[in-house]
Amino acid sequence: MSLHVDTIPAHGGQLINRICTSEQRAEFLDKADYLPVVQLDDRTFSDLAMIAIGGFSPLTGFMEKADYDRVVDEMHLANGLPWSIPVTLSVTEEVAAPLQEGSLIRLDDPLGRFVGVLQLTQKYAYDKMHEALHVYRTNEEQHPGVRVIYNQGSINLAGPVWLLQRDSDPRFPTYQIDPAESRALFRDKGWKTVVGFQTRNPIHRAHEYIQKCALETVDGLFLHPLVGATKSDDIPADVRMRCYEIMMENYFPRDRVILAINPAAMRYAGPREAIFHALVRKNYGCTHFIVGRDHAGVGDYYGTYDAQHIFDEFAASALGITPMKFEHAFYCTRTQSMATTKTSPSLPEERIHLSGTKVREMLRRGELPPPEFSRPEVAAELAKAMQIKEPSYDI
Ligand code: ADX
Repeated sequence: MSLHVDTIPAHGGQLINRICTSEQRAEFLDKADYLPVVQLDDRTFSDLAMIAIGGFSPLTGFMEKADYDRVVDEMHLANGLPWSIPVTLSVTEEVAAPLQEGSLIRLDDPLGRFVGVLQLTQKYAYDKMHEALHVYRTNEEQHPGVRVIYNQGSINLAGPVWLLQRDSDPRFPTYQIDPAESRALFRDKGWKTVVGFQTRNPIHRAHEYIQKCALETVDGLFLHPLVGATKSDDIPADVRMRCYEIMMENYFPRDRVILAINPAAMRYAGPREAIFHALVRKNYGCTHFIVGRDHAGVGDYYGTYDAQHIFDEFAASALGITPMKFEHAFYCTRTQSMATTKTSPSLPEERIHLSGTKVREMLRRGELPPPEFSRPEVAAELAKAMQIKEPSYDI
């Protein structure tokens, strides 16, 4: 008999599963009409799903105050495990007032469909400014993550959750690979080391370069684009996924690369989100995680390599996933290859790194970004999408 042992345990040691059994679902459906209802928004709905499938292990629900306070102040859960981003369900005082601690709350998705249940163990007020300054390092409302905090209610509802059932993603059904499945896939392929890649942007050659540099040193690459809520001017997930499909067809070896969606919402918390992104990929079974320049950053709120430095604040054994750090990559005209200043002696004028704004302007004029920046098939796909949607290109 062969023993199946995962190469890497989930964060906290056990992969969480909060998806209802058929008995639990029947029980909740019976009670549905009598339970108080809280409506989730896009982010909290995706958080519910991430908790349920184990992507946020060891979380079993929305955070209680002890976890929340320690996460915000010290980047650890109350039990001492590293965790950098609060996962909370915030409602207004009016919504919170009639809800009794100890009771079950029905959770509806943004379309009003019954999708989950919260066992309310605690409701507590929190300090929005304090959370913004600690988690996002700014209290400016222009920051998209801070804006979410300012716009949400001032009371957090906490407690364990259940997801009624795991529906397949209507947009990307073939790419929905939940943590238990990705772990099984890695095992079946015999991969002992797997590097995870987070992204919210269309793939360009600097992405491809760092992905392949990382893959040279491990067994497999887990391409894991985030398809949950992003800010409105990011390129839509369907366009980004088409770009990835093109890359899979033309530029990646099938036996070494898996493409799957990350259903989570983007926070834009830069360094803190890099830790969070790494822990989520650990739960999917990755042993390594790519952190490049300005990971999960927005505007100029974070230093180019802050998201790499923050890993030094944790003991490697406590995180349990190894960051693979990459410098700003560009196309080098002197060596005629992708490079960084670590690997090329180029002068600044010999480096092609287009700004996001410049690429957007080019696409609007109907020009394609050059092949040094973007694979031609990907550039063509973006150009096609731009004619309909005019999204911005935030690199
Ligand atoms: S992110 O918000 O998901 O981090 P993006 O999709 O642009 O944004 O980046 C995905 C990953 O690639 C991140 O780790 C980021 O640091 C890295 N990255 C993006 N562009 C470059 C580049 N030119 N050089 C090095 N790393 C990069």
